[in-house]
This record gives sequence, C-alpha cells and structure tokens, in this order.
Amino acid sequence: MNPNEAKPTPSPEGSPDAPMQGHSYDGIQEYDNPMPGWWVWIFWATVLFAPFYILGVHVFGYIDTYQEDLAQSEQELAEMRAAYAEAHPSLQIDEASLQKYVEDPAMAAAGAQLFAANCASCHGAEGQGLIGPNLTDKYWIHGNTNVDLFNVITKGVLEKGMPPWESVFSVEERAQLVAFIRSLEGTNPPDAKEPQGELYE
Ligand code: HEC
Repeated sequence: MNPNEAKPTPSPEGSPDAPMQGHSYDGIQEYDNPMPGWWVWIFWATVLFAPFYILGVHVFGYIDTYQEDLAQSEQELAEMRAAYAEAHPSLQIDEASLQKYVEDPAMAAAGAQLFAANCASCHGAEGQGLIGPNLTDKYWIHGNTNVDLFNVITKGVLEKGMPPWESVFSVEERAQLVAFIRSLEGTNPPDAKEPQGELYE
C-alpha cells in the first residue's frame, strides 16, 4: 500500500456492517463492532461451567477439593515410600553383617581408597598412626569388634580429635572402612605409633 495515500476517515454513520456508536470523546469515535466470536464462546463456556463446578465441589462432591486431592496424593506417596523401603531394606549393622564386608577383599579395597583420601592424614598411610592411634596393632581405645569400629567411625570422638563420618560416608562406605581397617591388623608397618588403649588378644 502506498504510505502517502490518505487513510479513509470513518463517516459519522459508520460502515454498513458496523455502524458508529453515538458518542464522541474529544473527537474519538467507535464502530459498534460485535465481540469476537471466540471471545463470546469462551464467555458462555465459563458461564455454563460455573454451576457444574459449584455443584460438583460444594453440593454433590463429584469434583475433589484441594484438600481431598492433597490427602489422596499424600497417601499415594506414603504407599510408594513403604514399597521402596520394603524393596531396599537398609543395611543392618551387626557383627555378622559387617563380617561379610571384612571377608570380602573388594570391600576392603574400596575402604582402602576412602582411607587414603580421608583418614591417612591422621592415622598414617598404612594405618601406623600419627595424630590418631595405630590401627594395625592389637590395642584399641574404643573396643575391637566390627561394630565398635563402625561406631567410632560413625560418631567420632570429637573431643579427642577423631571426626564423625556419619554425614560424610554412607553406611556402606563406613562398612568398607571397617573392612579395610580389619585387613591392617598385624601388618606391622614401619614407624608404628606406640600402643594406645587396651590389649585385645
Ligand atoms: C583429624 C584427625 C583424624 C582423622 C582425619 C581421622 N581420625 Fe580416626 N582417630 C583420630 C584420633 C585422635 C583418634 C583417637 C580418639 C581417642 O583417643 O578416643 C581416632 C580414633 C579412631 C578409631 C578408634 C581407634 C581405637 O583405638 O579405638 C578408628 C577406628 C578410627 N579413628 C578410624 C578412622 C577412619 C576410618 C577415618 C577416616 C574416615 C579416621 N579415623 C579419620 C583422629 C583422626
């Protein structure tokens, strides 16, 4: 379209299919156009939906309220959690279950890596003891059952400088560390720290 061409000005009567509305505000006039068809359809749809919805929620209950939906979802969630817990029983920590780790060389090897990265700085690369006690001898401050070791690793002895590892390592990883420490017993590394604690034969 030629931009210089003058735009047609609306006549006071309007066009044949959209007559002018009667008013004029500061010279601004309006065509009396009908509402767009899609708008009118949506409007009537909402009007028709309203009684269906109000009766459904407040009178006959065929539409769930927010609270009902929430309770239902929470129940589904609880069922899923129960099913998951049943399928994945958490590792039982007792002497026998830890002993399985102790007897599995792969578990001790996994524990060795954790030990090198996290424990060697205080217990020595070979467990010979530095700041922390020697872990290769028969002397133990906090007992020498598998569970004793697991508990010290888990809870630490903070006032003596042994950090707790509960939030750092999973139960599985702590069991691997027990397996590794058990494998150190009797290795007699050089420069071993003097015995601490009680003798366990
Ligand atoms: C910041 C130094 C430090 C770090 C790091 C450290 N420990 Fe210790 N650990 C100690 C000290 C100190 C003790 C002695 C606590 C006491 O005297 O009661 C100890 C005690 C222990 C004991 C008990 C020894 C006994 O004789 O009863 C075990 C087992 C042990 N640590 C394992 C670990 C493991 C496994 C790690 C790594 C995940 C680790 N420690 C990391 C300092 C440390």
